Amino acid sequence: MSHVLAAVAWPYANGPRHIGHVSGFGVPSDVFSRYMRMAGHDVLMVSGTDEHGTPIQVQADADGVTARELADRYNRVIVQDLHGLGLSYDLFTRTTTRNHYAVTQELFTGLLDNGYIVPKTTLGAISPSTGRTLPDRYIEGTCPICGYDGARGDQCDNCGNQLDPEQLIEPRSRINGETPEFVETEHFFLDLPAFAQAISRWLDRRENWRPNVLKFSRNLLDDLQPRAITRDLDWGVPIPLDEWRDRPDKRIYVWFDAVIGYLSASIEWARRSGDPEAWRRWWSVDGDGKDASAYYFMGKDNIVFHSVIWPAILLGYSGEGDRGGEPGSLGRLGLPTEVVSSEYLTMEGRKFSSSRRVVIYVRDFLERYDPDALRYFIAAAGPESNDTDFTWAEFVRRNNDELVAGWGNLVNRSVSMAAKNFGAVPTPGELTAEDEALLAVARRGFATVGELIAKHRQKAAIGEAMRVVAEANKYLSEQAPWKMKSDDQKPRMGTVLHVALQVVSDANTLLTPFLPHSAQKVHELLGGTGVHAPMPSIIEVDDLDGGPSYPVLTGDYTVGARWESVPLVAGTPLSAPKPVFKKLDPSVVDEELARLGAE
Ligand code: MF3
Ligand code: ZN
Repeated sequence: MSHVLAAVAWPYANGPRHIGHVSGFGVPSDVFSRYMRMAGHDVLMVSGTDEHGTPIQVQADADGVTARELADRYNRVIVQDLHGLGLSYDLFTRTTTRNHYAVTQELFTGLLDNGYIVPKTTLGAISPSTGRTLPDRYIEGTCPICGYDGARGDQCDNCGNQLDPEQLIEPRSRINGETPEFVETEHFFLDLPAFAQAISRWLDRRENWRPNVLKFSRNLLDDLQPRAITRDLDWGVPIPLDEWRDRPDKRIYVWFDAVIGYLSASIEWARRSGDPEAWRRWWSVDGDGKDASAYYFMGKDNIVFHSVIWPAILLGYSGEGDRGGEPGSLGRLGLPTEVVSSEYLTMEGRKFSSSRRVVIYVRDFLERYDPDALRYFIAAAGPESNDTDFTWAEFVRRNNDELVAGWGNLVNRSVSMAAKNFGAVPTPGELTAEDEALLAVARRGFATVGELIAKHRQKAAIGEAMRVVAEANKYLSEQAPWKMKSDDQKPRMGTVLHVALQVVSDANTLLTPFLPHSAQKVHELLGGTGVHAPMPSIIEVDDLDGGPSYPVLTGDYTVGARWESVPLVAGTPLSAPKPVFKKLDPSVVDEELARLGAE
């Protein structure tokens, strides 16, 4: 057993989540965490909503509400989206908690003390007509990198690069169109070049990363510049220095505080668990966390923040960049074991876009379909290491041909035949070579599927689990137990059905990380009781340090199935099963396409 941190990208609280989001960070991190727990590891899965910075403010302006109101609204919506998918967070919190502010400020101060954060005079924008600072998000112009005309003062949404306002070509104020004036102003910079060597050494020791991710991360080291980690903003974590903390126009940059969320959420989880030091088992390289590993899940536009910026923050706080230094009061902190980055999901051949309404929101999806149908599609056909396309036709096909006709049919016919003819799990007689062979295929699945999930090859893993299902369907067709009607054939029928049910049980365990909702149902159809696949719940909590209350996702995941074959007990009562999966009418495709077109 070891400690495994599953660190899941923090969704911006600027709208409901769509299926592109959850296919990148959501479902893969949950499959991994569920498997690791079943295999006996001590998993801590944390995340929350990312609530600061321009993305929130721009949406708040558009909706005519404050940033705080917008964040409150979408924090709740996103918690529900993720809950609906059964994502088993130990803690899904938010970045506006007092705990998060304190931890962010602690890291800022630690880096500053070690000399890795330095003040610099730069050019900031002011409005010539009012003389006031013009926040980054109110400046628009042409991106100097890709030429996109709608780039903002902190970022280009077209190419994703971080920008400074004075880099924009033909900058203008979004408030009144005037050309901003640039005056000298002070900001704090993270000295990234001081970490180039340490990051490079760390990357050299990385194993099993997806090749694209490792190559991309290495290339980033070729051109490291100090990076502004405070911005002209009025919404964010205050800068923890006298003269600065009360300024309304300067805040810590959203990406600096967001990545720290992994640590602050772990600390919050520990404080809520009754053992405030427990987070160290996943983070402290010197003490309790020696056996810890940390996996970070995200889409590919987030790689730089997780393979350069976050490691730099952790190294600097621990006193391990070129300038040395002392670890802060939290001690030396561990770097990512792996940055698990997915590619993009497109939608009927187009990029997801909430504004152009090329989008399927999780909540709309879950109103019409079961969560496991989506989880299956994402695991079997998601953007694991290539950009992939979601089409309704392919969704319906996979649901009907694979989930319903493959897995659902195996469960249904095994359980109903056994229920009808025996009313219970039948007692097996002597096993034939065919029986033994099938049981062995299922047992071997535990090693194969488990290793593939541990290496983040979930497509191959679910393919192997479904191969066990296919073998079992083939076995049933060949053995044809339904023909064994006479009294002297009935014992053999019992043996075949016992074998089939045992393989259903094993395949169900293999599929549990992917399909937890249906796995619980199959467990019950086999006469099982109690929790097989634990589920998260939403609870309203008080801020630990006196801020307003908020909803979190959390759960007790110490219960549930283990990653092993559990022998079925002959005589366990069985009743006629209800179908576990729903067959979709092919007309769904046209309906959904019409919906997309209409909106
Ligand atoms: N909110 C960011 C996005 O949606 C992801 C932040 S991941 C973090 O792209 F951990 F850094 F917060
Ligand atoms: Zn650009």
